Amino acid sequence: MHSQRRSDTPMAAYQVNPDRSTKPVGIKKICCIGAGYVGGPTSAVIASKNPDIQVTVVDYNRERIEAWQTDDLPIYEPGLLEVVKFARDGNLTKRTPNLFFSTDVDRCIAEAELILLSVNTPTKSLGRGAGHASELSYLESAVRKIGEVAESNKIIVEKSTVPCRAADTLRDVLVATAKPGLHFEILSNPEFLAEGTAIRNLLNPDRILIGSLKTPRGLEAAQALAAVYGAWVDPDRIITINLYSSELAKLAANALLAQRISSVNALSAMCESVGADIDEVSYAIGLDKRIGSRMLKASVGFGGSCFRKDILSLAYIAESLHLFEVADYWRSIVDINEYQKDRFTRRIVRCLYNSLSGKTLAVFGFAYKKDTGDTRETAAITVIDNVLTEGANVRIYDPLVKETQIRHELKNTTARLDCAEKQLTVCESAYEACTGADAVIILTEWDEFSNQGEPVRRDSGHGRKTEERAGRKVDWARVAALMRRPMFVFDGRNIVDAGALEGLGFRVECIGKA
Ligand code: NAD
Ligand code: UGA
Repeated sequence: MHSQRRSDTPMAAYQVNPDRSTKPVGIKKICCIGAGYVGGPTSAVIASKNPDIQVTVVDYNRERIEAWQTDDLPIYEPGLLEVVKFARDGNLTKRTPNLFFSTDVDRCIAEAELILLSVNTPTKSLGRGAGHASELSYLESAVRKIGEVAESNKIIVEKSTVPCRAADTLRDVLVATAKPGLHFEILSNPEFLAEGTAIRNLLNPDRILIGSLKTPRGLEAAQALAAVYGAWVDPDRIITINLYSSELAKLAANALLAQRISSVNALSAMCESVGADIDEVSYAIGLDKRIGSRMLKASVGFGGSCFRKDILSLAYIAESLHLFEVADYWRSIVDINEYQKDRFTRRIVRCLYNSLSGKTLAVFGFAYKKDTGDTRETAAITVIDNVLTEGANVRIYDPLVKETQIRHELKNTTARLDCAEKQLTVCESAYEACTGADAVIILTEWDEFSNQGEPVRRDSGHGRKTEERAGRKVDWARVAALMRRPMFVFDGRNIVDAGALEGLGFRVECIGKA
């Protein structure tokens, strides 16, 4: 009785994978459902490090699966193509291929002992909780499929980011849909990779979190998954904790990371008024080891598919628990992010003599951060919408993002209107974007936009544009020659040396600098 109570405490629940040499217990086949930014790279790394395990990534999106089978992968990540080719193309590497991509969801589920759920969990758009809660229907449908086709016991792993106690929902669906006598052990194994550095993060993770029920079967399943990671991750970085702690820890980690950015962005507004420099303030506070220097870079606002949705999900959970002050606290992180995007646009309007009508703005960067082609929730959507509403002509250049994707992202904004559609041009180069422009607005911190640091180095493997432009940086003197006077640069990422640009005749406005 006494030991039972002890094992429920957080400290007693914490344990490390004791033996790195442990081989995957019975795991010979893994099926990953969802061939996106998480499922693809994670499966590729698992396969590359576990030659004895067959890893198949399935998705009902045929186009995506077909792209994963080529060298023009559906997503761009530095180093991804090399890892995929290594595990997938045994004929080239003299290694037996063990990474596959398929739309045959039923067969792959039926054959696997361990299933990674890597499907999307966006914010709900309809009904109760719309705009706040997580949409679990993709997860539910994947799990229904498992229940329907499974003929043997399986370990089901939540890699998708989920609300607290989602595991109970999944178990309930499985119990109701699966054949009697089968056992499904549900684990939480949230993914912490950041886009643009996914392969580096996966190969050298800060930690691997595995949440399980503290039952013998739960612990055994956790050890089986730990052994898969044990092929390349130090045992002291693989921690097993309570299932529900693991689910909550993922939401909490994203909330705290985003909270740092919103804190710095809130300070950036003060810097602009008191004559302080946010880069110096971030540097100074980051030297405190308790704070640390990462995720303290002021910007036009954070984007990406997860920060906003995960914070809103956390706030919604708090509200469901009647913890209204807690919900307000988390939501304020998103509020500051919206404020930052609006504040940046207002500064552009103010500097351009309070009217953008008939003026041309060159936008450098559309992706939500550098080294990715992902544009979900990018700050560029809000800023471009705002300046289109003010009547500006907008000429966008991004080294990786295609025109169709940019127009798709803007389709629910002002740009959907016929008049705004005509105000919008997507350009093939920075120079084309700048021709006749009154201002350059930097929205993504692509290395090539900076006028300082090393020449750009980027690996090939995703599209023609990337290969062609590797090694090139924008020539700001050439940009100056193409623009109308006076010429402004609004640096939403603080990546330019303002003094050097002022020497070329630009008026430069940076975030958090007077
Ligand atoms: P994504 O949209 O890129 O990929 C999800 C894929 O799942 C899509 O290709 C979709 O077609 C497929 N899918 C959905 N339902 C399916 C079903 N029932 N059967 C088969 N395929 C199905 O999403 P993502 O960015 O990879 O994110 C996946 C999850 O991981 C989310 O919960 C997200 O919060 C979390 N996450 C994402 C990141 C990131 O950097 N993108 C990092 C950590 C965690
Ligand atoms: C983030 C987390 O960093 C990952 O750990 C997590 O796994 C992931 O979300 C997820 O759950 O999806 P990601 O969104 O890919 O990863 O990228 P980040 O590097 O965190 O950047 C997010 C946004 O914040 C970007 O728009 C970035 O430009 C911005 N940012 C980041 C800043 O404005 N300042 C910073 O100091 C850091």
